[in-house]
Amino acid sequence: MNFKTIISSILFISAGITIYAQQVPLLKKSVVGNRIVEFIPKGFDKTKTPSLILASETKSKGKLPLDWSLIPEFAFKNNKASAVLNLKGDISLYGGGEVTGPLLRNGQSIKLWNTDTGAYSVEGGKRLYQTHPWVMGVRKDGSAFGIIFDSTWKAELITNSDQIIYNSEGALFRVYVIDRKSPQEVIKGLSELIGTIKLPPRWALGYHQCRFSYDSEKRVMEIAETFREKKIPADVIWMDIDYMQGYRVFTFDSIRFKNPKVLNDNLHKKGFKAVYMIDPGVKVDKDYSVYKTGTENDVWVKKQNGEEYHGKVWPGDCAFPDFTNPKARNWWAGLYKDFLNTGIDGVWNDMNEPAVNDNDFPEDKRLGTMPYDTPHKGGGNLPQGSHLLYHNAYGRLMVEASYDGILKTNPTKRPFLLTRSNLLGGQRYAATWTGDNYASVEHMKLSVPMSLTLGLSGQPFNGPDIGGFLGDTSGDLWANWLGFGAFMPFARGHACAGTNNKEPWAYGAEIEKTSRIALERRYRLLPYLYTLFYQSSKEGMPVMAPVFFADVKDSRLRAEEQAFLMGENLLVVPAFAKNPMLPSGIWEELNLVEGEKTDKYQAKLSIRGGSIIPAGKVIQNAGENSFDPLSLFVCLDANGKAKGELYLDSGDGFGFEKGDYSLLTFSAEKNKNTVTVKISGQQGKRNCNEELKKINVNLLLNGKTYLGSGTLKGGVTITLK
Ligand code: NOJ
Repeated sequence: MNFKTIISSILFISAGITIYAQQVPLLKKSVVGNRIVEFIPKGFDKTKTPSLILASETKSKGKLPLDWSLIPEFAFKNNKASAVLNLKGDISLYGGGEVTGPLLRNGQSIKLWNTDTGAYSVEGGKRLYQTHPWVMGVRKDGSAFGIIFDSTWKAELITNSDQIIYNSEGALFRVYVIDRKSPQEVIKGLSELIGTIKLPPRWALGYHQCRFSYDSEKRVMEIAETFREKKIPADVIWMDIDYMQGYRVFTFDSIRFKNPKVLNDNLHKKGFKAVYMIDPGVKVDKDYSVYKTGTENDVWVKKQNGEEYHGKVWPGDCAFPDFTNPKARNWWAGLYKDFLNTGIDGVWNDMNEPAVNDNDFPEDKRLGTMPYDTPHKGGGNLPQGSHLLYHNAYGRLMVEASYDGILKTNPTKRPFLLTRSNLLGGQRYAATWTGDNYASVEHMKLSVPMSLTLGLSGQPFNGPDIGGFLGDTSGDLWANWLGFGAFMPFARGHACAGTNNKEPWAYGAEIEKTSRIALERRYRLLPYLYTLFYQSSKEGMPVMAPVFFADVKDSRLRAEEQAFLMGENLLVVPAFAKNPMLPSGIWEELNLVEGEKTDKYQAKLSIRGGSIIPAGKVIQNAGENSFDPLSLFVCLDANGKAKGELYLDSGDGFGFEKGDYSLLTFSAEKNKNTVTVKISGQQGKRNCNEELKKINVNLLLNGKTYLGSGTLKGGVTITLK
């Protein structure tokens, strides 16, 4: 018992409750992976706290190492379980998933209760749309640990510098602790437990254009055509709720979206993909097929008294599928078939906290979701349980069902699904965005630590509404935001109904030019970005990483949250950044397109000494050929060496799982006054000699660029003069 526990025991004793009734001993502590330990408290019951976070059940591989220092102390009081981990030394804390506030989480607290929070206004921004009971700590020497509280019960997570506290409002839960030599190794450990993202289709890495809503087929085509006319690269147009017939999910408005098949075909002809929104709330309407079949299949969430639970969302009164039930998930998955067969490429699941509009209730009765005691059926591996248990998993179970439906409909394509609500581990099914931000400089700056923290919490495929969703956006704000947003993993511009137009050309000729430059830079980097997503799908590494990843021992970098890394070799310093803390060592400025240097809105890019970054041509959509030529940007380390990787495949489908891909390793070496760049390794069966016929090398050395070109086979030699 440490000092703090003694003090708290005295407090409880003086409150008439003894510490012995409160503290819960450990039932089991066992090694379940490489420096991963599972802690199970006595009294833990899977049927009270099922795991929806882990990708699969763990297996015990031995006993706790003797030197293991991080051991949770469990307590149980008034039917509420909690755990505390005491920390020693100077530790930088991160994680918690979707959070506002700083990247460095020392002295912060968050509420884990998924909530629709426009402009992040609920509880001062401490309660957001997602639940990630996960904390990572980095010690002074760069070694690190991570902790998963494996529970979905409503909870609070407090990250004090000397103590991590997780207070749940439900039954006892398991805790997983990973303790490894670096934060990168800890993130790998996290993905060993919760899985990784699936490799997305290449088009999903392009720029996405959205608005609530492009409300007719005509307007959608106008937007798509304008991108092409103005030669601003883009891949996806998004259909928000107004495409539906009276906000009924899985329907199309009979006048404004009369012919979705034709619309989607036309978008495809212009090199665009189409993503459509689907919410969980189903309009209560006896003549509406989705409500009818849902009722026939008995899928709805019911109240304690057995009546259907109804809550108001866009279409008025809605029934909600009970996604804890496998039959309901299966029914939901089946709804996607006819819908997607109109040529829809991707799906957007929104409002899935689930958000319910109960503003007509007196203020003290508003929950914004279902009542806590609403029962959920469960089934399969999941027990029956209350909404207090399942609320934080509702979005996650919905996206599991959606993912299945999308994959079943199009088994030869990689599903693309975006979700607003999710749970730690839910990156296995869906990408995410950071919900309804505001068009302000404050939210623009906040979008960097928000995305970084999601990346450090197992969700690499994320990004904000670029430009800001709520409120009008000025040209200046848009240009600043896109200037660095173009390098975030998920890059989508979005706008709320009633706000100004927020397309790249909506702010006049100058900002249009800035937008084009920003997106051309992203598209040139697509080969690098796709390689990062491939690596992330293998090991869980964040695509957008904090600057301290470049040097985990450099304590100056631990709180840097203006600048960020794309992978570990490309540093992005947004135009707004004031005195960012940057990693030492060799970094050379990377220039990709004409006009970027003189444009005040563009982020500054630098490539790290020792690395090679693959890039392609400026293309208008990800389906066009990036190569011909392939460009390699080379920056040597102090020993005159560099290396880098390029992953390529067909861009969609699952051929890569059977070997139809190429993972090329390039290396560069300086010898006297020549630098030779060549392939030093190749995995996969894809023959890329045709695809990558010509290679251009840009050697960046001491502020100068040396050019060379050659072939994949022969390599490239540059003579320094
Ligand atoms: C809320 C979402 O957060 C927002 O992005 C969307 O535009 C609206 N719902 C309307 O569907």
